[in-house]
Amino acid sequence: MSTTVTTTTDSTAASFAVSAARSAQLEAQIAERPADFRVLTGDRPTGALHLGHYFGTLANRVRLQRAGVDVFVVIPDYQVITDRDSVGQLSRNVDELLLDYLAAGIDPDTATVFTHSAVPALNQLMLPFLSLVTAAELRRNPTVKAEAEATGERAMSGLLLTYPVHQAADILFCHGNLVPVGRDQLPHVETARLIARRFNERYAGGEVVFAEPDALLTGASVLLGIDGAKMSKSRGNAIELRSTEDETAALIRRAKTDAHRTITYDPVGRPEVASLLLTASMCTGADPVDVADSIGDRGAGALKVLVTEAVNEYFRPLRRRRSDLAGDPGYLRAVLARGNARANEIADDTLGHVRRVMDMTY
Ligand code: TRP
Repeated sequence: MSTTVTTTTDSTAASFAVSAARSAQLEAQIAERPADFRVLTGDRPTGALHLGHYFGTLANRVRLQRAGVDVFVVIPDYQVITDRDSVGQLSRNVDELLLDYLAAGIDPDTATVFTHSAVPALNQLMLPFLSLVTAAELRRNPTVKAEAEATGERAMSGLLLTYPVHQAADILFCHGNLVPVGRDQLPHVETARLIARRFNERYAGGEVVFAEPDALLTGASVLLGIDGAKMSKSRGNAIELRSTEDETAALIRRAKTDAHRTITYDPVGRPEVASLLLTASMCTGADPVDVADSIGDRGAGALKVLVTEAVNEYFRPLRRRRSDLAGDPGYLRAVLARGNARANEIADDTLGHVRRVMDMTY
């Protein structure tokens, strides 16, 4: 048992190092030839996005879009039911996500935002793709394992076990070649690469129907929630993009800190204080050490006031756009309809190609 664990950890660390080096190369290529790249990424519609999402992935998508990369954003509504029994307020959550995207700068005239369930051909790719992985490979996927553990006693559903394959379909249907991910999602990109490779070998006689996508590691540090645990939608510890300025102030006032009066930037020894400093740093562009020095021995209270002002100031334009857009639900529907139409066109093409090489055109 312990050998298995060690092997997994070693190979994970090795693949992380490889991906980190590769990501640096990719960034250079993106700067030179942005039009060669199509990004595919997304967020499960289980609630509104928070600052951790924004600085971790959303701002990066907007950056890539502005650099001239073709950005696809999947709102994976089918993925909501991988680990829970009900869909929740699905269409409302989709709208909230869409508001976050648009307010953050995702431009529906250049980017494509779509929902899983509205793109049948994407979902049909699941069938040939499922034939390309073994049950043992699926059970070994570290992210699936971690998610199964996080849901505790709940028995693993077939959808949770196979969702990396579904995710491969998200990436491959539109020939996405760049997948911005955090470290924990690297195994999914590996699965997509494996499926692309095996598809080409087994069903397409070596023709490259699917190129292997690359992971683009996002380097941003993880922000902690106000309780000191990782900021998360489900924990109720997050500062959401849509929070008002007063809500933001109240949340930050409640944030966990520590007993030392003098503020220092020490991510290992003082993770909660460091996370607050990092939040201010991300909003203002100042170095977290300088932020700490500017507070000195004025304590956590002064730090919280500074962080609140930094967050509210940085997000003021985004929040204004968001509330303007929220007043126009017809516009949101139209953006999604346009994205879904575009995704369907591409998915139909791709599935057509798949069926041709598989001798399934009748
Ligand atoms: N699993 C991702 C999340 O929960 C969302 C997602 C679905 C995704 N399909 C994807 C991410 C394909 C990257 C590529 O946030």
